[in-house]
Amino acid sequence: MLKNYNCGDLGERHAGQEVTLAGWVHRRRDHGGKVFIDLRDREGVVQVVFNPQVSEPSCQLAGSLRSEYVIQVRGEVVPRPTGTENPKLSTGGVEVVARELVILNPSKTPPFYVSEDEEVEESLCLKNRYLYLRRQRMKDNLLLRHRIIKFIRDFLDTKGFAEIETPILIKSTPEGARDYLVPSRVNPGKFYALPQSPQQLKQILMVAGFDRYFQIARCFRDEDLRADRQPEFTQLDLEMSFVEMDDILRLMEELFVLLVQATRPDMRVLKPFPHLSFAEAMEKYGTDKPDIRFGLEIRDLSDIAATTDFRVFRSVLESGGKVKGICVPGCSHYTRHQLDELIELAKGCGAGGLTTVAFTGETMNPDGVKSAAAKHLESRHFEEMAARFKAEPGALLLIVADKPEVVNKTLDGLRREMADRLGLADPALLAFAFVVDFPLLEWSDTTGNWDTMHHPFTAPREDDLPFLETEPARVYGQHYDVGCNGCELGSGSIRVHNRGLQEKIFGLLGYTDEQMQGRFSGLLEALEYGAPPHGGIAIGLDRLVMLFAGEQSIREVIAFPKNQNAVDVMLGSPSYVDTSQLDELNLKLKHEILRHDEKEQGV
Ligand code: AMO
Repeated sequence: MLKNYNCGDLGERHAGQEVTLAGWVHRRRDHGGKVFIDLRDREGVVQVVFNPQVSEPSCQLAGSLRSEYVIQVRGEVVPRPTGTENPKLSTGGVEVVARELVILNPSKTPPFYVSEDEEVEESLCLKNRYLYLRRQRMKDNLLLRHRIIKFIRDFLDTKGFAEIETPILIKSTPEGARDYLVPSRVNPGKFYALPQSPQQLKQILMVAGFDRYFQIARCFRDEDLRADRQPEFTQLDLEMSFVEMDDILRLMEELFVLLVQATRPDMRVLKPFPHLSFAEAMEKYGTDKPDIRFGLEIRDLSDIAATTDFRVFRSVLESGGKVKGICVPGCSHYTRHQLDELIELAKGCGAGGLTTVAFTGETMNPDGVKSAAAKHLESRHFEEMAARFKAEPGALLLIVADKPEVVNKTLDGLRREMADRLGLADPALLAFAFVVDFPLLEWSDTTGNWDTMHHPFTAPREDDLPFLETEPARVYGQHYDVGCNGCELGSGSIRVHNRGLQEKIFGLLGYTDEQMQGRFSGLLEALEYGAPPHGGIAIGLDRLVMLFAGEQSIREVIAFPKNQNAVDVMLGSPSYVDTSQLDELNLKLKHEILRHDEKEQGV
C-alpha cells in the first residue's frame, strides 16, 4: 500500500507515530515560512505541516502544491500546539509533521472548489462528476447509501429472504411509463425491453416456490424527469408467498424503524406508522403522498359556500366542483405582494384563482376580516369558516373553488408551500405513512377505458369480486403505498394468482385476447401451475436514501445520474453509433435524423 493510515482516522491516540498518508490537496496555506496542507482522503481531512527545519526539500516542494494534486506524505503525528486545535475537524487535535513528500499526480485547476460547499451549476457537477463526488457531502451520501443497502440485505436475510437476480433484457412489463428498447442482433427486427420493474419475474419466482425473494433491482423508465425521478433508478423489490397485506406492512415498518436507528440515529420516526385510507388522504391532504409532519389539513367549505351569493363559489358548486381551504396560523398580516405570490402558485397548479380571508383582529370578530371576497360574503360566513378550522386570531384562510382534482392539487401545493415558509416540517423527523384502500381502477377519459390505480397484477378485494364486471368503479384493490415526508417511497399489492381473474382484469383494461397472449403469456401460463397466493412491495431506494440524507433531489445520492434530458453528460450518452453497428442490428435511422447525424460528424 502507498499509505498505512487514512487521513480522517488520525487522532490524539496516534501521537508520536510515524505515518504514511496519500490523498488529495484539499487546501494549502503558507505561513511564517511553513506550508500547511489539508490532506484529504475518503475518510476525512488532516493537517500536514511542512517545516523547513524538519525537511527543507519537502517544504520547497510543498510550496508548489495546488488544489487536488495527489500526494504521498511521510511524517510524525503530533498534538497541535495549544490554541491551534480545530474542533470542526475530527482530526483537529493533531497534525502530521512531514519529513517526505512525493507528488503522485498533479491536477489541472478544477472548474469549482472541491473544498467548499458552494452551489455548482448542475452541468458542471455532472460533467466533472469525479470532482463533485470528492466533496464531503457527496461522499457521506454515497457511503450512507452503501450502509442502507447493507442493512437492508442483512435484515432481509435474517427474515429468510433470498436475493435473486432477474434479467435486464426482458419483455415489457407495464408500470405506466415508456420502455427502453434494445434491438436484438441475432433476432432481426425484435427488441428486448429493459425492465420498468421485475414485477412479473418476482411473481413467477413465487410460482417457482421461492417464498421470500428480494432484490436491489435496477429499473428503467422512459418518462419525464423530475427531482425524484431518473430514467434508471433502484428499487428494493420484494415478494412473499402466503401473505396478507398486514404481513408486508409490518415487515416494512420494522425494517424502516431499525434502518433509521442503524443509519440515522439522530433522526426520529413516528411510531406506529399511521394507516390512511386513500379517501382520507385525499380529503385531508389533497394527495396520496401527504407530508404528515405538520397539520394545515384541508377542510371542505362547500356547504358554507353554497349559502353565499359569491358567484365564483356558486358557479363552481353548480358545475360539480368543490370549495375547500386550509387555515394558516399567524399569516393574516401577509402583504398584497405575498398574497399575490400565493395566487400565482394556485394558478400554477391549474386553479382559476385563490380566495384569501385574513383574520387580522385581536379577536375573531368578523369586523377584523380582510378579504377581496368580503363584499360577497356575510359575517356569518366568516364565522362559520373560522369555526370549521377552529381558527384563531391571526389566521389566514386560503380557499380554492374548482374541479375536485384541481382543488386537491392546489391545496396540496399551498399546504407544502406554507409549511416551508413557516418551517413547520421538522427536518429531523421521518414521518412514514401507509396509504391503503385504493380503488382498483379509475376511468380514463383519454383512453375511454378503465386504468389501474397501481398495475394490472393487483388483486381486487375479495368482497368486491362480484362487482368486477357490473360496477368496476366500486371495486377496491389490495394495494398499498408507503410515503414519507411528502414523497412516494414505495407501493405494492397482494397479487392476482389465478389466470381467469387476471384475464378478466386485463379485459377491463381493454386488452384483447391476442394482446394478452402476446404480452403476458409467460405469467398467465405460470398462474395455471399452482401459483401460491402472494404479494409484495417495491421501495424507491434512491428516494429513501435522499430522505435519509436530507437531500432535495435523488441526483445527490446517485453516483452517476442523468440530467433533466436523460443525458449522461460525462460519458456523452446517449450518442450516435456507426452505421455499421446499425447495419448489424438491421436498423435504419429516419432520413432527417441521419442528416443531422452526418452534420454532427462533419460529413
Ligand atoms: P412503482 O411503479 O410504484 O411500483 O414503483 C415503486 C417505487 O419506485 C420508485 N420509482 C422511481 N424512483 C426514481 N425514479 C423513477 N423514475 C421512479 N419510478 C418509480 C418510487 C416508487 O414508489 N412493481 C411495482 C411494485 C410492486 O407492486 O411490488 C412498482 O414498480 O419510489
